[in-house]
This record gives sequence, C-alpha cells and structure tokens, in this order.
Amino acid sequence: MALSSEASSSSLKPIPGRYGIPILGAIRDRHDFFYHQGRDKFFATRIRKYNSTVIRTNMPPGPFVSSDPRVIALLDGASFPLLFDNNKVEKLNVFEGTFMPSTAFTGGHRVCAYLDTREPKHAVLKGFFLNALAARKDAVVPLFRNCLHESFCEVEDQLNKNDEADFNSVFNDASFNFLFRLLCDNKDPSHTILGSKGPKLISTWLLFQLAPLGTLGLPKIFNYVEDFIIRTFPLPSFFTKSNYQKLYEAFRTSAATLLDEAEKVGLGRDEACHNVVFMACFNSYGGLKNQFPMLVKWVGLCGEKLHADLRSEIRRVVKEEGGVTVGALEKMSLVKSVVYETMRIEPLVPYQYGRAREDLVVQSHDASFKVKKGEMLFGYQPFATKDSRIFKDAEVFVPGRFVGEGEKMLAHVFWSNGRETEEPTPADKQCPGKNLVVLLCRLFLAELFLRYDTFEFEFKESGFGPTITITSLTKASTF
Ligand code: HEM
Repeated sequence: MALSSEASSSSLKPIPGRYGIPILGAIRDRHDFFYHQGRDKFFATRIRKYNSTVIRTNMPPGPFVSSDPRVIALLDGASFPLLFDNNKVEKLNVFEGTFMPSTAFTGGHRVCAYLDTREPKHAVLKGFFLNALAARKDAVVPLFRNCLHESFCEVEDQLNKNDEADFNSVFNDASFNFLFRLLCDNKDPSHTILGSKGPKLISTWLLFQLAPLGTLGLPKIFNYVEDFIIRTFPLPSFFTKSNYQKLYEAFRTSAATLLDEAEKVGLGRDEACHNVVFMACFNSYGGLKNQFPMLVKWVGLCGEKLHADLRSEIRRVVKEEGGVTVGALEKMSLVKSVVYETMRIEPLVPYQYGRAREDLVVQSHDASFKVKKGEMLFGYQPFATKDSRIFKDAEVFVPGRFVGEGEKMLAHVFWSNGRETEEPTPADKQCPGKNLVVLLCRLFLAELFLRYDTFEFEFKESGFGPTITITSLTKASTF
C-alpha cells in the first residue's frame, strides 16, 4: 500500500512502547497517569525510556469505559500537527478520546463535535455555527464589556465585605450570561427557567461526561476507590437529565432567531437546539470557565512589571483610538502576545485524538514511523507547544514572545485544534470559536487594566483547572 508521505519505507522505524497485557496493562497505565506519576511525568518518563517522542501507550479511561485504550502518542511539536490533517485522520466520536459518553446526555443526538468531517452533517452544523458567530460579531464587544463591568463590581463588593473574592464563580456567571445573551437575542438567562442556576446545572452535566478523564486529587487512600467509581462503567446520564432538560428548554424558548437560521440551512429545530446547547454549554462555557482563571493566573504570576507594561499599552491605545474597539484591541501587541502565550504554555484542551484513515507516516523531529490504518493517534498538546526544539525557553512564560517577528511562531500555537495562523472552516475540526475566544481574552485584559493598576491573588490547582481568589485590586491611578 502506498504510504502518504515522502519517507521511504526503509527509513521508517517501528514505534516503541508497550500496551502490556490486555486490561491490566491499561489499568496500570491509568494509575500511573492519574495517581503515581501525573500526566507530564507519565509522558516524560516514557519519552526517556524509549528515547522517542512518538510512542505506544494506553490512555485513560481504559477498561471498561473505553473498549480500546491503545494509542500512538505524539509528544512533540513536529508530529502533533498530523492530527489536523482531516484527509489522514478520522475524527469520528473521538471528541473525548477513546470513549464517547452516551448520546442520552445530548437528547439522543450525536452533536457536531463528535462528527467526522466526512459526515455531511458536520459541514452543515459547523457552517451554521460559523455563520451564527459572524452574524453576531458586532454585539460581542459591548455585550461582554457589560458583563465584565458587572463582574468587576461584584469582585469589588466581595473584597469590601470579605477581603477576598471568588474569581471563578463571578466570571463563570459572566461567561454564561454573555454566551446566553449572544445566542438568545440578548435575553437575560435569569429571566428564564434557569434563574441564576445556569452555570451550576452545566457543571454537573459536564462533570458526568468528563469524569473518566479527571481526578479529584483526593488523599492517596481514596485513589483506587475514585478510579473504580468513575472509570469502570460509563456514568449514567439520568442523574443529569433534569439539568439538561432545563438548559434545552431555556435555549429552545429563547434562541428563536438562531433556530430560524438553523432551519434555513436545512436543520431540524430540535436537532439544531441540542447542538446549540452543546456548543454553548460544553464547547464554549466549558472552555471559558477555565480560560479566564488561567489568564489571570499567568498574568498574576508575572507580577507588577507586566501589569505596568499592560496598563500603559492598553491606556495609550484606548486613548489614541477613542475607546475599546476591535480595532483598538488589534493594536495592543503585548496584550495579544500575553493571551497567545497563556494558550501556548497551558493549552486548555490538552488531549486530541484522531484515527488513521489509511496507512501513513508520522514524523517526529528525529525519525519517521509507520502508522497502520485504523490505529488511534493521540496528541498531548502541552508537549507540542512547549517543545524546546521549536520555542526558546519553552517552559518559561515570556509575555512578549509573539510581538513583532515573534508573530511568526503563532503557527506553532495549537489550542484551537489547529494552527493559530489558520482559520476554522466547515471542512475541518478547528474550533469555530477561535477568534471569539481570543477576542474575549483580550477584552478581559483591557477591561482589567483600564479599571485597575494591579491586583493580587491566590490560586489552587485542581484536576479541573485553577481556582482563583482575588485578594486585592488597586484602582487605576491614571486615565
Ligand atoms: C476557551 C474556550 C475554548 C477552547 C479552549 C476550545 C477548544 C476547542 C478544541 C480544542 C476543539 C476541538 C476538539 C477536538 O475535536 O479535538 C474545539 C471544537 C469546537 N469548539 Fe471550541 N473551544 C473554546 C470555545 C469555544 C467557543 C466560544 C465556541 C463557540 C462559540 C466553541 C465551539 C466549538 C465547536 C462547535 C467545536 C466542534 C468543531 C467541529 O466539530 O468541527 N468553542 N474547541
């Protein structure tokens, strides 16, 4: 069979690594992954052991949640982008990896994120999302600034009362409020059956779908119990059924314009609405829920010098441009770079999967390997975007990394399941929210440093992202 690469078959190496004995090998690997080594060490020790950045291993959850945990792991920035080539990899039901939660979580539908690019429905749904976002682009800045304004007022209130503020819950509310209003003709979600509970309803629904991929970080003694409970059998959807039903109802009754747009491209209203719920609550809210805490964490850790540089750039540009506009944000090169650097150093979705459509060749920095049709490829993104053979000081947060000439390196930033220099289309699996997410992060920083000179914070890492407590905000002294 012809191999789809330039490398001749004689120069191809066998892929090193072991799956171990069936079932037990996979369970041993997942214990190493979650409890004994942690994910970075899990991959780093195997890279050293096999002297290769392309290796065979099992990936969680394994038995009996996924039927086949065996993958070929791509652990550098050279091999990883193979996952973006939709002619070579199939992305059918691999959104969460080697398992797929029951469609009962999504009203009986296989929603867009689980569809492969060769399924005709994928392009219809993806095109619908891309057009829906494009049609609402002018609403984004004023709407999100409003949400930010309310949130910062709430943070100040909490600081006045308790000397600390719960950043995550305030900005979770802001993210949901923004997304709901953007997609539902500016309707306030608290005026629907959701009341103020939207984010909580989503969190439980998300947890039941994502649990097999995480750990609560409990004391060691509970590790095997946790592992048994969340990774032995798929978690049932019925515990979250009423949550989902409420979310569905809220969107069904509030997103009339959006669902009209769906019908015009040939989608049924019911199927479109389940897809909208998944896009808004899983793809978007699930992402933003951790993206803002990560941004605050990295900007906070950089300290006063970066805060001074950011506020001076933001205030200067806003003055020159006469306000906070998309054009003004585009001129803030340090702000832009800080957002990209956060996404490079800690990509929010660390795992990507795709099945080889045909026999093919994967190339690391050092060697070429043959992959057989049907084998599962897995990319660990933090090792791709912190590859020291691509990025200088790859482990260090360099705020100005992507300023000026550095912009060229954006081709190696992959957070959106594609290169930052490329745009999502109906024919690929790149995140359609890519530009929206980047814009929201820039807006967040602009608003933060227009209002405040600096801030102090504490944070705690958990298996599901950082938890941030704001301990002080210094009001802007100029502007
Ligand atoms: C911080 C926020 C976000 C992150 C980190 C993120 C990341 C991603 C990634 C990595 C994928 C590809 C998953 C895969 O197939 O391996 C994806 C897909 C997707 N994202 Fe996002 N996303 C975010 C926000 C959003 C937003 C705001 C929207 C929409 C408004 C969105 C809509 C989608 C959809 C619909 C897909 C499926 C695309 C397809 O099937 O072709 N995401 N996202």
